[in-house]
Amino acid sequence: MIGSTVIASHRNAGLDLLAFSRDRLGFVCHLKRTYGDVVAFRLGPERMVLLSHPEHMHEVLVRQHRAFLKGRRGDVSKQFLGQGLLNSEGALHQRQRHLLQPAFHRQRLAQYATVMTIFAARLRQSWQDGDTLDMAPVMMQLTLAIAAKTLFDADVEAEAIAIGQAITTLLQGSPRMSLPLAPLLRFVPLPSQRRLRRAQDYLDTLIYRLIDERRVTGGERGDVLSMLVGAQTEDGSPLSPRQIHDEALTLLLAGHETTALALSWTWYLLAHHPEVDAAMQAEIQTVLGERLPTVADLPQLQYTRMVFTEALRLYPPAWLMTRRARQEVTIGDYRFAPGTFFLLSPYLMHHDARFFPEPEAFVPTRWAAPPEAGPARHAYLPFGGGPRQCLGEGFAWMEGLLVLTTLAQMWRMALVPGLPVEPWGLVTLRPRQGIPVRLARR
Ligand code: HEM
Repeated sequence: MIGSTVIASHRNAGLDLLAFSRDRLGFVCHLKRTYGDVVAFRLGPERMVLLSHPEHMHEVLVRQHRAFLKGRRGDVSKQFLGQGLLNSEGALHQRQRHLLQPAFHRQRLAQYATVMTIFAARLRQSWQDGDTLDMAPVMMQLTLAIAAKTLFDADVEAEAIAIGQAITTLLQGSPRMSLPLAPLLRFVPLPSQRRLRRAQDYLDTLIYRLIDERRVTGGERGDVLSMLVGAQTEDGSPLSPRQIHDEALTLLLAGHETTALALSWTWYLLAHHPEVDAAMQAEIQTVLGERLPTVADLPQLQYTRMVFTEALRLYPPAWLMTRRARQEVTIGDYRFAPGTFFLLSPYLMHHDARFFPEPEAFVPTRWAAPPEAGPARHAYLPFGGGPRQCLGEGFAWMEGLLVLTTLAQMWRMALVPGLPVEPWGLVTLRPRQGIPVRLARR
C-alpha cells in the first residue's frame, strides 16, 4: 500500500501465516469483522490485501482488469492445471477462451440437458427409502459423470470415485501449497507430496488416454474434446498435447467440483428449512407433475431458481478469488504497489448486512425482485465478473436446476441428527464433514 494512513492494516505476519493455513475462512472473516472492507496484511514475505466491498471487487474484476494477473508465480494449481483456461493469461487466455466459447452457447447447452436429467434420474432410482448418504461425494460423482459425458463424450462412472479422490487430494494439498515458499516443498519427499504426485499422475494418465482415444476414433463429435483436438494455433499447427491436456483437465475440474458443492449446500439448506422444501415441491408438482424436467421447463421453475440463487449466496463455492497487481493500482481511496496480491471474497460480500438484510437467513424470496441500484447490484458474485467470469455459468445453472428438480421430485432429505455441517474454505468452499442426510421417498 502506498501513501495512505487510513487503511485498516493488520500486522502479525508469522501468526497469521499459521492461522491462514489452518482456517482460511475463519481468518478472512476475522479480518473483515475487525478491520472492514479493505485490509492490508502480510503472510510471511507476501503483501496481501483482502477486498470485500462490491465497488472494489468491480474495480478489480471489470473496470481495471488489465492491471491484474490472475495468480502468482509458483501458484500450485499451475502445477496440475498448467496453462488451462483457469490459469492462462493475456493472448493465450483470449485465444483459448474464444476457442472454447462455442461449447457453452445456449443451443449447445440445451443438448447437454438430456444427459443431465437422465444421469440424475438414474441416481434417484438407485436410492432406497431410509438410506443414509453423504450428499457431498454423491453430488461430486454425479456432476463429474455429467461433465465427462457432455464435454468429452466419455463414460467415467466406473472411475468416478477414484477421480474424485484424486481431485480432492490435489485440492486439499493446494491451500498449504499456495502459501509463500510452498513451491520449495515440492522437492521435499514428504508423504503428502507423494500423495499429491500420485493423484496428479493418475489424472494426467486419464486425460491423455481420453485424448489418444479421440485421436484414434477421430471424427467431429461436436464436443469440447473434438474442438481441442481439431484446433489450430495462429501459425496453423495443432495445439500441443500438453495444452489439450491442460484445457481438458481444467474443464473437467471446473466443470464439476463447484456445481457439486452448490448442489450439496442446497440439499443441506433444504433439509434445514422444510417450509422452503415444501414450497419448492409445490412448484415442481405444478410445473412437472410426475414427468422429468426438460430445458423448456426451466423458465417456469422460478422458485427453484430462487432457492439455488440463495444457496449460492450463502455458500458460494468459489468463495475467494485471487489477483496480482501488474502495476501500481488505485482501489477506492488507496494506492497499491505493483506485485500486491489481492484476495477478493464473494463469501464476505454475500454475508454483509449492508447488501443482504439478515444475511445469515436462508430466504429464497429475497430474489423475487431484482437487486436495487447502488453497490448491491455488484454484491452477488458467485460466478465472478469481467473477462474472466465463469465460462460455465449457463451450464451450471442448467445442471443445478435440472438435477435439483429431478432428485427433489422423488426424494426429501433430512439431516442426520448430531452430525455437524461446517463450511471449510479450501480452494473451494467444501462441507468439512460432508452433508450426511437420510432419504425419505415422497
Ligand atoms: C455453481 C457452479 C460454478 C461456480 C460457482 C463457478 C464459479 C466460477 C468463478 C467465480 C470463476 C472466476 C474465477 C476468477 O475470476 O478468479 C469461474 C471461472 C471459470 N469457470 Fe466456473 N463455476 C461454476 C461452474 C462451472 C462449470 C459447470 C464450468 C464448465 C463446464 C466452469 C468453467 C469455468 C472456467 C473454464 C473458468 C475460467 C474462465 C476464464 O478465466 O476465462 N465453471 N467459475
